[in-house]
Amino acid sequence: MEKIIAGEPQARSADIIADNLERLKALFPEAFTEGKVDFAVLRQPLGDNVDESDEKYGLNWYGKRRARQLALTPSLGTLRPCPEESVDWDMTQNLMIEGDNLEVLKLLQKSYSGKVKLIYIDPPYNTGKDFVYSDNYRDNLQNYLESTGQTDSSNSGTFSSNSETSGRFHTYWLNMILPRLYLARSLLRKDGTIMISIDDTEVAHVRLIMDDIFGPENFIAEIVWEGANKNDARQIGICHEYVIVYAKNRESLQRDWGLDKEGVQPVLQEVKRLRGLHGTDYCAASEDLAGWFRANKAKPAFANRRFRNIDARGAYKEDDPTAPGGRKFELRNPRTGQVIPLRQNRGWSFDQERFDRLVGDGRITFVTETSVMVRRYLHETDKLTPPSVFYQPARSASERLNRMMGAQIFDYPKDESILGKFIQMATDDDPNAIVMDFFAGSGTTGHAALERNSLDNGNRRYVLVQLPEPLDSKKSHQRAATDYCDELRRPRSIAELTKERLRRAAQKIKDENPEYTGDLGFRVFKLDTSNIRAWNSKPDNLEGALRAALNHVESGRTEEDILYELLLKLGLDLCVPIETRTIAARAVHAVGAGSLIACLDEAISSDEVEPLGAGIADWHDILDPAGESTVVFRDSAFGDDVAKTNLTAILEQRGLGNVRSL
Ligand SMILES: C[S@@+](CC[C@H](N)C(=O)[O-])C[C@H]1O[C@@H](n2cnc3c(N)ncnc32)[C@H](O)[C@@H]1O
Repeated sequence: MEKIIAGEPQARSADIIADNLERLKALFPEAFTEGKVDFAVLRQPLGDNVDESDEKYGLNWYGKRRARQLALTPSLGTLRPCPEESVDWDMTQNLMIEGDNLEVLKLLQKSYSGKVKLIYIDPPYNTGKDFVYSDNYRDNLQNYLESTGQTDSSNSGTFSSNSETSGRFHTYWLNMILPRLYLARSLLRKDGTIMISIDDTEVAHVRLIMDDIFGPENFIAEIVWEGANKNDARQIGICHEYVIVYAKNRESLQRDWGLDKEGVQPVLQEVKRLRGLHGTDYCAASEDLAGWFRANKAKPAFANRRFRNIDARGAYKEDDPTAPGGRKFELRNPRTGQVIPLRQNRGWSFDQERFDRLVGDGRITFVTETSVMVRRYLHETDKLTPPSVFYQPARSASERLNRMMGAQIFDYPKDESILGKFIQMATDDDPNAIVMDFFAGSGTTGHAALERNSLDNGNRRYVLVQLPEPLDSKKSHQRAATDYCDELRRPRSIAELTKERLRRAAQKIKDENPEYTGDLGFRVFKLDTSNIRAWNSKPDNLEGALRAALNHVESGRTEEDILYELLLKLGLDLCVPIETRTIAARAVHAVGAGSLIACLDEAISSDEVEPLGAGIADWHDILDPAGESTVVFRDSAFGDDVAKTNLTAILEQRGLGNVRSL
């Protein structure tokens, strides 16, 4: 039974450099000598496409290289599960992760690389007033714990804004955003999209950085979002911001993006309900639909009231089949051969062939033998190509959030109805997609994903990351939020507001739609140092290494903590099912249908080894996982090496060759 030691893949987050080297090696094996890249050799297959001049096109600033490097260093942390703060822990697939997003993005690489369909972020805009988290290049995890007050330190609670007079105003912000965008790219699926909210302060830089990381060929649009009302302008009152949209690979993107026309979804849902209620009695269903429109005069759905008839295909309206610019020809009734007269200055919206097909399909109503109407179905005309300008007054989102939370606790939340549209645009071809936001703030993206699911019965999963940014009651604009946290009896931090918003958004959806059975829960995880001492001590940390040799598991850590760390570092989904059985009076966990089997009991005696090994092997046979299983025990659980060796031998005999200890 070999110990999983620091530096091994199972003990660390993804090693991006090693992955890159593997990929390069697969393409150009000749450029590798003794494991290192020989640039002189690599240059040859690249022909004249190597630019070695000092003056290059692009954005440069002090620290860019270091910031890029930061994305490549593995994290020494883990994500600890918090079922008690979660909603519907056992069933949900949604994630709310508390922590600095740089560390979290690193930790998620193994499990979620190439899996996320849409990343929407709304980072601090660098207005000089919003705070910009400052990474510490030496030990970012420790820096995170200190600045969020989770360890004793004089730094506790030191969050500051990036003032315009700092001299490195843009540099700080660029150094913060660059490594996060690198890591975000690798989480995206090949057909994934990233959308970044930003304003004039950094928009030019974001475009250039995104060209750098994603490639200009993957630029999709610079959306203008009108609705901000800033009254402090001297020359021009800026009333918009931007959403920068890039594809991971534009070639792989769904060709046509669509957006629901206003108020269409509620009608489609009502039609579905009425068809369920009345079956093929379309008259009764149509009558009820007309009544439903009358009862919803004040709602956007009312704009679709002409679609008040229902047949086997859905809701339709009888429409004029002519238009001013249409085709002028002698259209004939295919049944009688009679010419159907055309009104002056109009033309037909179809040719004879298509008309004949529509008649055959029962989609043409003959008002008389020579006068026709065409049935147009709501579900066929319900999409429009997304525009590059969106309008939504910022105030309405704030007011809705205040109402839902019962207090004004978060300044400038994004509008969940617009984020819902972005989600529809980018995930319509896969309603089971993962949607991520690693600057979650009040959790608007999570709320929008839930709403979108409730509209189209999708199963999108959200993954949110939010720093437990401390709230300060001495700052007048944060007092309501600190009082709110006090009332909840929770620590004063923005992450607490995020979780409460997600709970309330789920409740709101349930209240408005009691029949809804979609996933409204979320699992909470929190960033922390690794549970295994030996895994988080740095090579130069002698004291840490000595302590780690004595007892491997950090004190205060639970079996679940260790289990989820293993899962994360093996690259399994954080929502993968975990089954627990008692075998030889010991709790044994099977993760992901047996790809990981762990018994983390603190003491396993020699005479327990045999029944335990046989029981685990029997269970493994039943689970019959697709790939090789890893079986893990606590190293300190065994009284002596004999017990360890025997257990390993029993498992090996039964085909479980990968047996490790912590
Ligand atoms: C502009 S707000 C996002 C608002 C959000 N879109 C909404 O509608 O509520 C940016 C958020 O990112 C968070 N944040 C800043 N730096 C972070 C970091 N390093 N890791 C995680 N969250 C961070 C801030 O605490 C803030 O809540």
